[in-house]
Formats: sequence, C-alpha cells, structure tokens
Amino acid sequence: MLFKNALIENAADPADIRVENGIFTQIGALSPLEGEDVTDLGNRLVLPPFIESHVHLDTCLTAGDPVWNMSGTLFEGIECWSKRKDKLTHEDIRERVKKVVGMYAEHGIQYIRTHVDVTDPELVAMKAMIELREELKDIMEIQIVAFPQEGILSFPNGKELLREAVEMGADAVGAIPHYEFTREYSVESLDYALRLAADNDKLVDVHCDEIDDEASRGLETVAARALELGLFDKVTASHTTAMHSYNNAYVLKLMRLLKLSRINFVANPLVNTHLQGRADTYPKRRGVTRVKELTEAGINVSFGHDDIRDPWYPMGNGSLRDVVFMGLHVCQMMGYEDIMNSYKFITSNAAKTLHITDHYGIEPGKPACFVVLDARNYYEALSRDSKVTGSYKNGKKIDVPSH
Ligand code: FE2
Repeated sequence: MLFKNALIENAADPADIRVENGIFTQIGALSPLEGEDVTDLGNRLVLPPFIESHVHLDTCLTAGDPVWNMSGTLFEGIECWSKRKDKLTHEDIRERVKKVVGMYAEHGIQYIRTHVDVTDPELVAMKAMIELREELKDIMEIQIVAFPQEGILSFPNGKELLREAVEMGADAVGAIPHYEFTREYSVESLDYALRLAADNDKLVDVHCDEIDDEASRGLETVAARALELGLFDKVTASHTTAMHSYNNAYVLKLMRLLKLSRINFVANPLVNTHLQGRADTYPKRRGVTRVKELTEAGINVSFGHDDIRDPWYPMGNGSLRDVVFMGLHVCQMMGYEDIMNSYKFITSNAAKTLHITDHYGIEPGKPACFVVLDARNYYEALSRDSKVTGSYKNGKKIDVPSH
C-alpha cells in the first residue's frame, strides 16, 4: 500500500510512504508497484499517533452525577466523587470507558496511560480496566497504572492492595506522596512503590507533589530511588505542581539529580491551571510545573488531560489539541519553534514516558501507525483546530466506534 504526498512531522516537502504487512517499509519519492493500492494524502500533515500519557478513565464522564462540583475545587471534587463512588460498578465503568475511548479515537489517539484507583478493597475499577485493555486493543493500546488515590500508608491495607493490583496485571505502579499523612509516610510509600516496581519489572508513574505547597518534595525521593534502583526512564513523575513554587536555588540543585535519574515528567495543563492556586488570593500561582525549563535541560516532558468531565474537571472532549493549546499558553512557550515542536508533548515525548519507543514512530521497520491532519504543519493544525482526517493502525484506517 502506498500513501502519496505526506508532509511528515512538519516537513516542507511531501514524501510517500510504503506500508507492507502493516509495517512501514519505505519513505521517500516512491512510484506505485504493479497492482499496489494508492491513497493520496494531498499534502496533509502526517504525525505519529497521539498519545494520552495521563488520564483517569475510571472517573471520566461522571461530572454532575449525582451532584455538580459548584466551587470547582479539588476538595469539593473529592466530596462529589465519594457520593459517585457508591454507584461504581463493573458495568458502569465499562460503559463510560468505551465511550471515552471512542472520543479519543476520533481525535487520533491510539495509546492511553490510565491511572486506576486501587484504594478499594474490591478493586472494582482495576478488574474492569484489565478486561477493557484486552477488549479494546485493536483501537487503543491501554497502559494501566495501579493508583493508590487515598495513599499507600494512609489507607487501610494500602500496601497489600497495591501489590494485589500489580499481581492482577497492572503495567505500572503509582504513589501519591503529597497525600500521605506525614513526610515519613511519603518517603516510605515511595520506597515501597519503586521497590515493588523493580521487583516485578513494572513501570512507575507517581502522582507527585500535586499541591501548591513549596515544602512538598516527593520528587527528589522519586528521582533518587529511580537512580539507585536503576529504573531510570521507566519512572515518571506526574503533575509536580509544587515545583512551580520551589525556590530557584533548590531547583538549581534538584536539576542535577533529575538529569542523572533520567525520569520523565507529565504535566496536565488543563486540570492544573483549573485546580492550583486555589488557596492564593492575589497574585495567584499558575501551578503548572516548569515545562519550559525541564525541556531546555533535555528532560523528557509529555502532556495529558488528567480528567474528562468528572468531579475535578467539567470539560474535555478527548482532543489532546486543547491540552497542548493550554500548555503552551500557561508555560509561555508561544515562540514559533515552540509551537511547531509542541506536537512532541503528545507524540514522541509521550512515547518515551510510556516506554513504547520500540514500536512507535514513522520509520521503516516500525508498525505503520500514524495520523493525518487537515493542515500543512502543526502551527496551522493548532491555530485552526484542524481535524484528524484519518488514524491508521498497522496500515489500516481505524473505524471510530460510536460514542
Ligand atoms: Fe491524575
């Protein structure tokens, strides 16, 4: 199969792409072989598929059910969720996740890393997600993080539940150090989580310092353990919003450890712009981590939605375009080159975060997965909110399920 006239990753000139048996085999100026199917992409932008590197699929599409979050704060969100949590069933999760995966597929997303709450003695969401990961694999590659929403040491049997979720088949181990009762618990919870991952050959993704407290320093422990246990880029620190408020002298010192540790970062610009700075009067902190500085230091950063229409965030349609758009504004990364390169936050950088670079990217030998946008480059796509006209997996156009 030959795809003609693709503007691959902002290239000024079009190239042709040959796909055989679902694999990219040739890229360049190519003529059709005898009897070969040809699709003309008409000088449209072609990118590797989009990747959602941080979302909570188990809470998606629950906003207003049974009550709306009237203040919009994190704490009222937790109250709303505790009312909704009573109604959480296997079937309820399956229905909502299928819908939201359809929304993502429509916008060219082919990979999702979801955090699943395991502070539940029945592990209801975990069981449903493991089932769905298998069931939806032809349209979406899903990675599951065992996420201890209410803590590892601060929740009854937290350690055992996390271990059980890993044994059930979670891909990654989570933690929430800033939510633990004490600083000591915070450090011990990270020791436990990263050791559990190392012993079971799992990835790590920590909800790390998602608070405006400049004294919240789970990040240094995550990075130090990633280095000492040799986990390196298998480890991701999500949110790190406290880093926004750290003093610059401390950040200067911390950067050395972050580079040595090679850990990934995930920022969630929509949700953290909405939830952070709530205890401030004026000036109000933006509360998004230091994306520009981390990127300039060569540290890998990707972007995620975090929430889609749930008690913590009432918006979201599964388009990562909005995530990038907000991220560029709030991180003051609106220089032309920054805008052109910003698709990497939801493509190649996110692939590093998910540890899937062995089968991701537009190059001969890799699975033929890519998206086509109705634009010539990413500046145009972002500024015009251009549609994804096709999402191809292993050379075949994905049939977006109704949602
Ligand atoms: Fe999150």
